[in-house]
Amino acid sequence: MDKLVIRGGHRISGSITASGSKNTSLPIIAATLLTGGGTFTLHHIPDLQDIMTFTQLLHHLGAETAFSGNTLTVSSRNAESLQAPYELVKKMRASIYVLGPLLARFGHARVSLPGGCAFGPRPIDLHLMAMKKLGADITIETGFIEASVRGGKLRGAHIEFPISSVGATGNTLMAAALAEGTTTISNAAAEPEIETLCHFLIAMGAEIRGTGTTELEISGSDSLKPIEFHNVFDRIEAGTLLAAAAITAGKITVNGVIPDQMKAVLKKFVHAGCIVETTENSITLTGPEKLVPTDVTAKPYPAFPTDMQAQWIALMTQAEGTSHITDKIYHERFNHIPELNRLGAHIEIRKNQAIVHGPQVLSGTKVMSTDLRASASLVLAGLVAKGTTEVLRVYHLDRGYEKIEKKLNSLGADISREKYKEF
Ligand code: EPU
Repeated sequence: MDKLVIRGGHRISGSITASGSKNTSLPIIAATLLTGGGTFTLHHIPDLQDIMTFTQLLHHLGAETAFSGNTLTVSSRNAESLQAPYELVKKMRASIYVLGPLLARFGHARVSLPGGCAFGPRPIDLHLMAMKKLGADITIETGFIEASVRGGKLRGAHIEFPISSVGATGNTLMAAALAEGTTTISNAAAEPEIETLCHFLIAMGAEIRGTGTTELEISGSDSLKPIEFHNVFDRIEAGTLLAAAAITAGKITVNGVIPDQMKAVLKKFVHAGCIVETTENSITLTGPEKLVPTDVTAKPYPAFPTDMQAQWIALMTQAEGTSHITDKIYHERFNHIPELNRLGAHIEIRKNQAIVHGPQVLSGTKVMSTDLRASASLVLAGLVAKGTTEVLRVYHLDRGYEKIEKKLNSLGADISREKYKEF
């Protein structure tokens, strides 16, 4: 297994370009299943374990893919609605994204239930509710979702989500794009990842109104066409890199971004005492010598994202006072806290809130990654910890951060990747 060995105490400074968004890549790759003819060319796709897992899933379904230099080509001509097996789905919950496209194109789908998650329950009831509304019969048998459509074609419907769900909105959009008639979605997720999926489907020939809002209307098309597409930047990677500069009192410019999509996070950096300057496609952040304690509450977009919560907690361990970080999306997403405390942080958990008492001097030791963003928070803590921090089980980090140690080293960090054996 790999670990990251971080020698702390270096300021993060310089200029870097954001990678392509992981959480946009996954639904747009799934959307390639909606059409049988021709080849998609997708640029700015990050070279990540999750992308590899997803392309393996597409292979399993009969599609052909090739990945080179951040460009992915996909031809789903020979895809069939076989099944999405447990071995692949268990590696990545986003595999559920194949349900909508397979049902819409083939009229049936068999997808393994995703199973547990490192940070609490993550049900898929809203995905199933939406597919049923669109006309699918769904049963759960031997750990699989068995879905089929009488007459073979989904039919437009009104779908109102009781809570905002990125995945269920994405699945519904893809299914509705090939359904008969019009589908309306109320309380749709308005995350930039969903906005990009709408742009992608529209470029394929879908008719969608309300892009970027919580009310979407989709007129189903008979067929969609393959396209060439340039993926958007990863707002969570960009936020994590900015946090690296903020926690080390450094100064970085992240290029290739859309600052407007990061308003909530940038506002909190400013509150925390950072100087933030933006252009149309770059963000420059200068970290203060003393960080100001800053409360955040993670909620659906445009609020502060849950995927930046762990990194914010790491940052606040260095603030001059107490801050409260609440997660209203995943109430139990706090696996990073015991590990941060092992580094010397003083963080309490009360229900879905972390109370961070700063500033604490952190001292390097061995810590364990438990999920993607938890790992990122440990890396941030390692950047300011005295001595050497070893972040074990770094495969979690590799799921969602492209060449993270190379990027941070190019900005002045001292991180090496080493092999180790777990007993
Ligand atoms: N939910 C349900 N039922 C459902 C679906 C969701 O109750 O059928 C609940 C969830 O348990 C959660 C809330 O709804 O409390 C929102 O979940 P959502 O469906 O929006 O999450 P997701 O689509 O499974 C995506 C990202 C996550 C990110 C969340 C929230 C991808 C591949 N994953 O997950 O990203 O945290 O949206 O923004 O896009 C990450 O990148 O580290 C990550 C976990």
